[in-house]
Amino acid sequence: MKRIKVFDTTLRDGEQSPGCSMNLSEKLDMARQLDALGVDVIEAGFAIVSPEDSKSVEAIAKTVQNCAVASLARCAKGDIDAAWNALKEAKHPRIHLFIATSEIHMEYKLRMTREQVLESIRESVSYAKSLCDDIEFSTEDGSRSDREFLAECCSVAVEAGATVLNIPDTVGYCTPEEMYDLFRYLKEHVRGVENVDLSAHCHDDLGMAVANTLACIRAGATQVECTVNGIGERAGNASLEEIVMALHTRAGFYGAETGVHTQQIYKTSKLLSSITGVPIPPSKAIVGANAFAHESGIHQHGVLANAQTYEIMKASDIGIPKSTMVLGKHSGKHALRERLEDMGYEVSDEQLNVIFTRFKKLADKKKTITSSDLEALVLNRGQKD
Ligand code: KIV
Ligand code: ZN
Repeated sequence: MKRIKVFDTTLRDGEQSPGCSMNLSEKLDMARQLDALGVDVIEAGFAIVSPEDSKSVEAIAKTVQNCAVASLARCAKGDIDAAWNALKEAKHPRIHLFIATSEIHMEYKLRMTREQVLESIRESVSYAKSLCDDIEFSTEDGSRSDREFLAECCSVAVEAGATVLNIPDTVGYCTPEEMYDLFRYLKEHVRGVENVDLSAHCHDDLGMAVANTLACIRAGATQVECTVNGIGERAGNASLEEIVMALHTRAGFYGAETGVHTQQIYKTSKLLSSITGVPIPPSKAIVGANAFAHESGIHQHGVLANAQTYEIMKASDIGIPKSTMVLGKHSGKHALRERLEDMGYEVSDEQLNVIFTRFKKLADKKKTITSSDLEALVLNRGQKD
């Protein structure tokens, strides 16, 4: 099994999501939980952005015990100094440098030529390396960059001391096939790539961030960047829980695993949602309220007989005590009987038929039937139907 490192950027890229900003103590709570979750790297913030961001990075760096802590920095001395000042007491500090490498970003945003960008990479990575051993280098808008130039930028970064090369699909533009090809190309053309981690950082503008990340793993990526609940700029980043559970569930297919303690996933997702006040959509894969809920009678019957009929993962693997049977108009007698038994009612087949008829009538009028609805149905047993 190939071991994939999980780089969590909930507290940096995720925090850039509208409505998701967090204060210092909230970030610390989240960082402690991410450490317990077993991610390899926590990107704690972008130290140069504000004194508050710098304080948060510093506090997380001093608190976190197991994983590495990173701060983002542009390829500029002031950014690198700010990142290092905030990080230097971490057990495992990492400076994360980035510069844009696509024509459109270099021309309109950076106003730099290719040669100037290459020089900036060489200088900044070397300077950061003089402060810190672990240096990640990211090519912003890498997926829309000229491939030869991208490979040259990465090669220069490795020569200057980078330990991780991260290739972002910054605007979520690529398809899984394109990301696969790009990573294969970089594996072949970047000098020294075999000595560093190659990392994928995908955004979800076309809803393909997780699929793209998995394609990068197939092509040789050894680190993935992601956020809890997939929060992040615009449509968000690749969701941590989806990547981790895809690898966990389809281990045979990917031949890869992470060090994440999957039973901590639900707790982590809930904590983030309660801190930010941003609800988890009910149909969100892995952590949505409906992810392990069954309403249809056919599905309920199957799951009660053998959960694997309709469940590819165990709810308990994610830290949810058990899957739920939602009672509604599509539900059948098996789930009704189970719920009645949970409530302490043993009913005969004949009694169940009577209650079931009443249940269906009520379910036509109400979206879901609660335990107190059922209580009322049972207590009316034997009355007019
Ligand atoms: O999406 C992106 O390009 C980024 C980089 C700064 C790593 O978040
Ligand atoms: Zn990003």
